[in-house]
Amino acid sequence: MPKFYIETVGCQMNVLDSELAGAALIRSGMEPADSITDADVILFNTCSVRQHAEDKVYSALGRLKQWKEQKPVSVLGIIGCMAQKDQKLIFQRVPYADLVLGPGQLDVLAETVRQLFDAKSGGRKPSVLQRVCVSLPRNAGKHHEVIESFRLYNPERMIRGGLMPAAAGSPSLVRIMFGCNQFCSYCIVPYVRGPEQSRPPQDILNEVKLLADGGAAKITFIGQTVNSYCYNNNGKITKLADLLYLASETAGVQQIDFVTNYPLGIDDRLLQAVRDLPKVVKHFHVPAQSGSDTVLQRMNRHYTSARYREMTDQIYETVPGATMTSDFIVGFCGETDAEFEQTVDLVKYCRFRNSFIFKYSGRKGTKSAELYADDVPEEVKKHRNNRLLEVQIGISRRGAHVAKHGQSESDAV
Ligand code: 5AD
Ligand code: SF4
Repeated sequence: MPKFYIETVGCQMNVLDSELAGAALIRSGMEPADSITDADVILFNTCSVRQHAEDKVYSALGRLKQWKEQKPVSVLGIIGCMAQKDQKLIFQRVPYADLVLGPGQLDVLAETVRQLFDAKSGGRKPSVLQRVCVSLPRNAGKHHEVIESFRLYNPERMIRGGLMPAAAGSPSLVRIMFGCNQFCSYCIVPYVRGPEQSRPPQDILNEVKLLADGGAAKITFIGQTVNSYCYNNNGKITKLADLLYLASETAGVQQIDFVTNYPLGIDDRLLQAVRDLPKVVKHFHVPAQSGSDTVLQRMNRHYTSARYREMTDQIYETVPGATMTSDFIVGFCGETDAEFEQTVDLVKYCRFRNSFIFKYSGRKGTKSAELYADDVPEEVKKHRNNRLLEVQIGISRRGAHVAKHGQSESDAV
């Protein structure tokens, strides 16, 4: 029986995709390998959000050249966001790769891997065996054709038992929506994960039940902009708040949370659902990205710093004991010291439990890479990263992230 190994980098979407890919490979008659060197099939689930993530994948793939030479009957596949974005480049840089398969095509992964593996076992020439399976670029066809080409919509799921077990007690991920329509100017995701699509609520609830029946007590709903979840069934609209009410009724489920939120569209109904449902975690991950209105404008984020603060106030006021976390990009194109200081002020005001801070990384194909120069020197990016982190650590240490935000004690970091 061929053995497979999946190496995953990137966000929770990738973690879930690897779990689904693993389940599909097991169903097709393969078994998980104990270690990467032991495997006949190696899949790299990749991330394109920053250059650093891509560089790491290429060096790891470089190290596998020897493995490929030693194992002529083997399959090396690149899946995930890089696979969608850099199809030709991957084969140029990794000529011994066998498969490039984008995130919308996971439904054909197992059969494709199997075909490649069987053909190699039959001794055919490697060059004939390379395969590309990707979705249509967003502007390549009619909207429904593009959506159709992102076929991974409602994947078959396997109960966790024995399958790449996540750390004990960690939540089971359930995708409630796919893709993104926000087009933040720095972000590659809308191009590689396709147009926003919300899954039918019944499919989601069936999946939650399946997982709960299999012993999962904690569920995390995931989506690139999870709070814009909206499903219209002949005029009957289901939103994230409704899903939380419905999923809360599932026997066996003890805890539900949801990531990642976009700052607009956190409405009263959602806040009340989080407040009133005992199983829902009183926590909101809402990336702010910057505290400067001019930077937010260049980032094509559709809110101001003041609007973000109002939303924070509303969260803390409506949901007693709520905590928040955020993402920030420092050193975005043209970011001045004064603009950066506005981000520092926002972090102090909002008293996040934690912030994930990233240095801006220009991504070819995005608007910011096209329109603006990546002109903040690396040293300055590093310095801002460290300074914001220090401010955040000061706030996290005090643990004063609930209700009393904006008080002067938070300023002394
Ligand atoms: N450069 C740096 N960070 C980025 N992110 C997204 N795109 C980029 C980029 N080009 C960050 C954002 C997002 C997180 C997942 O990654 O902060 O919220
Ligand atoms: Fe990227 Fe913005 Fe969509 Fe998040 S909301 S995935 S940052 S485009």
